Amino acid sequence: MLSLLTPLVTLAVLVQLVSAQVAVYGQCGGEDYSGSTTCASGSVCTYSNPYYSQCLPGTATSTPTTTVSSGSSSGTSTSTSSAASGTTTLQSGYSFIRAVEDPNFHKYLQSQTLNTASTAVLGSPSTAGQFIITDGQLIYNANGTPLYAVVEGQANSTVTKLAMSWSTSPASGANEGTFMWSGDTLEWSIPTITRPQLNAWLVCADAAGNLDLFINLGSYDYETPSGCADETIHAYTGATATP
Ligand SMILES: *[C@@H]1O[C@H](CO)[C@@H](O)[C@H](O)[C@H]1NC(C)=O
Repeated sequence: MLSLLTPLVTLAVLVQLVSAQVAVYGQCGGEDYSGSTTCASGSVCTYSNPYYSQCLPGTATSTPTTTVSSGSSSGTSTSTSSAASGTTTLQSGYSFIRAVEDPNFHKYLQSQTLNTASTAVLGSPSTAGQFIITDGQLIYNANGTPLYAVVEGQANSTVTKLAMSWSTSPASGANEGTFMWSGDTLEWSIPTITRPQLNAWLVCADAAGNLDLFINLGSYDYETPSGCADETIHAYTGATATP
């Protein structure tokens, strides 16, 4: 009986989520917000800061679809929200971030598992993320949910590259670095590490072929770790992420 009931209860909860729509100018997201993220038709959930997103008039090619797609009981859960995210028009105040040099020319910053707290990677324009820097934090608008760039700590002085990942909470304590734009290039610094060049990044393919992004603690284009390419990464504010 329980096994019969559970899907029904789940369905009821989903139906509730789907039907609850936020009115224009209402809140649709934010750190402690637990209500609906679906905006009334004709409005779009627009990220304002980590604590507040608001339904603003307009149309998006991708509206936050709550979690309906992941509820697929067939087991072949295709990720509708992820597929849709890449076709999204750039939101006001945000930038795409991309490499402009081979072998990663016009690959765009995103998360390995799209719109999810996971490794920071470069990938296809069609799945490009949108970013904003607030108080030194690089924030990824993952379909209305803020994800923060967190850089791993330097284990010892022989480590020359630091992995970056996306987290639901900002980096803190010894790992709290500062992101900033210098012209259109993205820089990262932290008081405890001296680096020759603050906008030096490395892109290194992992075993599965994902293009993981690392902070390069060494010099740009010098003693590049094997399997990696030196890159600077740049803000791009065109309406859509172009190949
Ligand atoms: C430095 O840290 C790295 C990564 O944790 C580790 O693989 C390496 O063995 C360490 N080297 C030394 C000299 O401690």
